Amino acid sequence: MSLPIAIEVYSKRRPSYSCRQIEWEEIVSKSSSLSVELTDGIAILTLDRPDKRNAVDGPLIADIEDFFSDPPEATRVVVLTGAGDHFCAGLDIAELKVMGAAEAQATSRAWHRATEKIQFGALPVVAVMKGMVLGGGLEIAASTHVRVAETSAFYQLPEVGLGIFPGGGASARVSRIIGAGRAVEMMLTARRIPADEGQTLGLSHHLVGGGEGLNKAMEFAGRIAKNPPFANTTIINAVPRIAEMSISDGLFSESLATALTQLSDEAQVRVKGFLDKRGGS
Ligand code: COA
Repeated sequence: MSLPIAIEVYSKRRPSYSCRQIEWEEIVSKSSSLSVELTDGIAILTLDRPDKRNAVDGPLIADIEDFFSDPPEATRVVVLTGAGDHFCAGLDIAELKVMGAAEAQATSRAWHRATEKIQFGALPVVAVMKGMVLGGGLEIAASTHVRVAETSAFYQLPEVGLGIFPGGGASARVSRIIGAGRAVEMMLTARRIPADEGQTLGLSHHLVGGGEGLNKAMEFAGRIAKNPPFANTTIINAVPRIAEMSISDGLFSESLATALTQLSDEAQVRVKGFLDKRGGS
């Protein structure tokens, strides 16, 4: 895949992050709390508030939504991580003190918009989880497609201790990953789940040693970036929806996804290339 050398300026509804793509392998964006680096079609997004354990405030969740609403054109895959030793300590609790019920619901819906854009956008997302993956941190991770954890990772839904309900998608997504019963247990006990248990439960797909998460994620991202974008987009959008359908509806939907991807130019070229190499017709 080649990328034209270009200057691309990203300016969103709030000028809180900007993206200047000058050439391959160059850091293209750095904002106060979401940094974006684009290399060979892989955008590394970093939650970048290490002094607050990467707690996510309103501007940061809006930045995430903005990015996934309209990612730089050259992006094929996203790697999502946190600055420093931790992935994310959840919603910025400082914001809670000024919130009434209506604002709390609006905040919850803002998280739902951002995490929907991650899960059902155009781009596969590989998460690198380490240290704290708490509350909203787990909710963001649960919306990604490939989850790599370092052995330092631990998972927790501690909201009950503050008397609140996890509002960023835990009841819908974490429960689908580990089962509703286990999600209830996590929420009620607010216990810390260590990395090895998280791996067994499916919170992570891959468990690697300390400091190895980003390399492993980049390895997967590089592989995924070589897939035709339409096939990637179809996989991430079709499978979770089909899994919610009856078998009969799901199988029919699967046949449509198969037909559509097969008709794509990329698939035709790749199938022909495969057959040509082997002397097929
Ligand atoms: N929101 C806002 N600030 C947070 C935060 C959060 N979710 N989590 C951590 N921080 C801030 C702390 O207030 C502190 O800021 P300060 O240095 O200005 O005082 C800084 O990050 C470091 O936190 P600290 O508690 O000193 O670090 P620690 O390593 O001892 O403990 C936690 C980290 C995550 C265990 C602890 O901060 C905590 O329990 N945070 C809340 C987690 C939570 O309930 N998340 C769900 C939110 S709904």
